[in-house]
Amino acid sequence: MSQSPLNIVILAAGKGTRMYSKMPKVLHEIGGEPMVQRVIDTAARLNPQNICVVIGHGKEQVLAKVKRDVVWIEQTEQLGTGHAVKMALPHLPAEGRTLVLYGDVPLTDTATLQALLEAAGDEVGLLTDVLDNPTGYGRIIREGEKVVAIVEEKDANAAQKAVKETNTGILVLPNAKLESWLGSLSSNNAQGEYYLTDLIALANSDGIAVHPVQVRASHLAAGVNNKVQLAELERIFQTEQAQELLKAGVTLRDPARFDLRGRLKHGQDVVIDANVVIEGEVEIGDDVEIGANCVIKNAKIGAGTKIAPFSHLEDCETGANNAIGPYARLRPGAKLADDVHIGNFVEVKNASIGQGTKANHLTYIGDAMVGSKTNFGAGTITANYDGVNKHQTVIGDEVRIGSNCVLVAPVKLGNRATTGAGSAITKNVEDGKLALARARQTVIEGWVRPEKPKK
Ligand code: UD1
Ligand code: CA
Repeated sequence: MSQSPLNIVILAAGKGTRMYSKMPKVLHEIGGEPMVQRVIDTAARLNPQNICVVIGHGKEQVLAKVKRDVVWIEQTEQLGTGHAVKMALPHLPAEGRTLVLYGDVPLTDTATLQALLEAAGDEVGLLTDVLDNPTGYGRIIREGEKVVAIVEEKDANAAQKAVKETNTGILVLPNAKLESWLGSLSSNNAQGEYYLTDLIALANSDGIAVHPVQVRASHLAAGVNNKVQLAELERIFQTEQAQELLKAGVTLRDPARFDLRGRLKHGQDVVIDANVVIEGEVEIGDDVEIGANCVIKNAKIGAGTKIAPFSHLEDCETGANNAIGPYARLRPGAKLADDVHIGNFVEVKNASIGQGTKANHLTYIGDAMVGSKTNFGAGTITANYDGVNKHQTVIGDEVRIGSNCVLVAPVKLGNRATTGAGSAITKNVEDGKLALARARQTVIEGWVRPEKPKK
């Protein structure tokens, strides 16, 4: 491949009217990541000298969302793709070549772009596609084998409209020619825009060859103009990810009903049931099973742990061989050791829970430190919030908390402490002690239950 330096310009100034959204089009997500972020990350993998991103509509939102150092270029008026690239000229050196990408074409891979750069050499490279229905796209006009021009749909005659070979929009240009070519563009066309595509004819008149490369699969160069196309590309992206996981040995009970919006690191013999959503950075160990309809975000799950259906985990960590759910909720800062059981309608937030501890039913554990082999009776609540401040609850090893206890923080239960069912525990309980904090049962002697008078 030619070694001349590479610059990349990403066009992302358009509004995306047909998304019907307050958010600029390029921020809509594929696989949990804004489209333009995906394009920038792909661009960065080609090690360019710089990446220029042309923005306009919703530029503040784009600037706030994108995570990477790029050269931001503002195009205040969207006068066409040629005009957009022209905005980047001051940041493009006189030598080398420039690759033009689109912020709303999210699934292009580096292999496609490498092939295009290779074919282009120091001349022009053009990524094309062949579509059964080419309506709306620029058509590739050839004389014999030679590509001589691109004609936009709205400017095309009937014969040109019949051409199924289309312009994906992605192309490589020699920097030495950019200034003169872009400078000679006119907006004298059906849309009154400065078309980047007119550069193909200009290259021809300058005797610079245009090297077309047909994309391997349409989705690699497909753009998003509306939510239908966004959903289509999302499904393709998810299918590819699911296939990768299957090939790597993960059992997906139904790969069509699995969504990964981030990264999943996994061990062996992992089983994931239908409708599971994985977000952010998730790591799961060997033999982990995730039941249907779980949502797991930024979590680390130890080997052998079973997560039963309808559980929700976020910013948390479980040890090995935990039993979680069904209907469990692990919130940020939940850190469970090995062999922990968290059952139905149990919520854990900002709490560490020691080995072998069980909270099997209807419990809230927040802002707590819990030892090992402790048991929470059904309906236990750590009352951690006094309306102003959050307080800690510290619970030792082998504690037995009776059902329906409220532990009013700050409070401490020592090792092997026990609390009677229905207690409101407001004072510390020492090691090994039984605490009761509830009204004593009384029996009213001689009480007679009222009866309706018999007719
Ligand atoms: C463009 C191509 C067409 C190709 C199609 C592929 C031109 C003239 N036409 O048409 O040949 O088949 O893409 O999808 O290039 N943009 C800006 N500033 C502007 C105008 C556009 O940043 O002033 C950005 C848009 O945000 C979008 C991209 O450039 O991301 C493409 O612009 P769009 O108007 O959608 O071009 P098409 O008409 O689809
Ligand atoms: Ca478009």
